[in-house]
Amino acid sequence: MEKIVLPEIKDYHLIDVYIKNGGYESAKKAFTFSTDEIIDQVKKSGLRGRGGAAFLAGLKWSFMPKSSDKPKYLCINGDESEPGSFKDRQIFEYNPHQLIEGILITAYAIQANTCYIYIRGEYHKWIKLLQKALDDAYSNGLVGEKMKDTFGIGFCTNIYIHKGAGAYICGEESSLMNSIEGQRGYPRVKPPFPAQNGLWGCPTTINNVETITNVPPIIKNGWEWFSKIGEPKHPGTILYGLSGHINKPGIYELPSGTLLTDLIYKYGGGVPGDKKVLCVIPGGSSMPPLRGDQIEGVKMDAESLKAYGTAIGTGGVIVMDEDTDLVKILARIAKFYYHESCGQCTPCREGTGWMLKILNRLVSGEGSVKDLDLLVSVANNIEGNTICALGEAAAWPVKFMITRFRDYFEKRVSSENILPVRNKVHSMRNTAISIDTEQN
Ligand SMILES: Cc1cc2nc3c(=O)[nH]c(=O)nc-3n(C[C@H](O)[C@H](O)[C@H](O)COP(=O)(O)O)c2cc1C
Ligand code: SF4
Repeated sequence: MEKIVLPEIKDYHLIDVYIKNGGYESAKKAFTFSTDEIIDQVKKSGLRGRGGAAFLAGLKWSFMPKSSDKPKYLCINGDESEPGSFKDRQIFEYNPHQLIEGILITAYAIQANTCYIYIRGEYHKWIKLLQKALDDAYSNGLVGEKMKDTFGIGFCTNIYIHKGAGAYICGEESSLMNSIEGQRGYPRVKPPFPAQNGLWGCPTTINNVETITNVPPIIKNGWEWFSKIGEPKHPGTILYGLSGHINKPGIYELPSGTLLTDLIYKYGGGVPGDKKVLCVIPGGSSMPPLRGDQIEGVKMDAESLKAYGTAIGTGGVIVMDEDTDLVKILARIAKFYYHESCGQCTPCREGTGWMLKILNRLVSGEGSVKDLDLLVSVANNIEGNTICALGEAAAWPVKFMITRFRDYFEKRVSSENILPVRNKVHSMRNTAISIDTEQN
């Protein structure tokens, strides 16, 4: 299988090596097309966003106004703060120029003269690596004013790296724009959508790092080629991230629709100690989990996962073995979303805190079966009632973990499982999960 996003060529991150292997030729080719032709190619390719919602990239670009008296902007989302997600940093490290080339093509297609790459603030190493690649692209005349001469076109764009400051919510596209503007990272009410009213009130497109890195090969090889890779309704390769109880954690670039069991056993080397899988979260911590006895035959792409009541999200697969304490895991996940809620909406601000409080009660062995219903009820009252999707991100793990593992949770909270008092105190202080994600 050809690696599209993370090619196996030594030193591919270096500009000379990238150019020697055909780098920036796709941009050259793209600039001979009209902007509509590029958007049409990407639409037909079926490329979907890799940032979580799997929205069609070409369709999103077509929402940008053709003529506008305001400047247009492109934002590349590399905030990558969802637990279980650590794919974009591989691109920053191993293939930064294909990302930069993808940005040039996308910026041209939507006629954006200014682009921002928003990177998770904690990614110090990767910010430096990407800045070096960007500096090299500038000094080779591939970005900025000089690209007019280099490519012989009347268009140019500038690219700036913007560091986040450690807030997960700034990965949500509208708070990302507020953050770039220097405002507090609060999500905005939609509509209006960014294509109409984005950065500084101007038309803006926001795409994930992996999404944009897929663009140069689509232009190089044509949309038909891309549309035939993997599952037709969600084509291309996906950077699957394997973490948790897995022998070989890491990022695996494979065609969409790869079997979840292949990811775990063929590529990930199975579960340490040959233990059984109890639970798998297929796309980052906010996605509804699957039971271990449900994973046979599950294909990893947006459409196939819908049938199992979950979603591809960021493709970050978190594996939990049979000895995992799901109550502690869920309490830790809930703590994350409680901490990251921006506090604008009452259901999210209050609900995340209540869910954490109740889950901590269960962890300490002082909960009851009634608490399980209460948790689902709180989650249901958050879902659909908030400004941004962090509400769902917080509600889904709680709601679906409890409903799908009801037997497990009931057993765990029943009286014979109440922990001795000494352990209770200990577990109250140590609700942190021990699953070994690369990110943490
Ligand atoms: C709370 C929250 C956090 C998000 N974090 C990220 C992120 O770190 N990276 C990302 O690409 N998308 C993130 N998203 C999704 C973005 O809002 C947006 O849909 C995405 O960047 C669009 O890119 P795509 O269409 O290429 O997937 C987040 C969404 C929410 C609600
Ligand atoms: S859902 Fe939560 S994170 Fe999103 S805007 Fe409302 S309070 Fe903020």
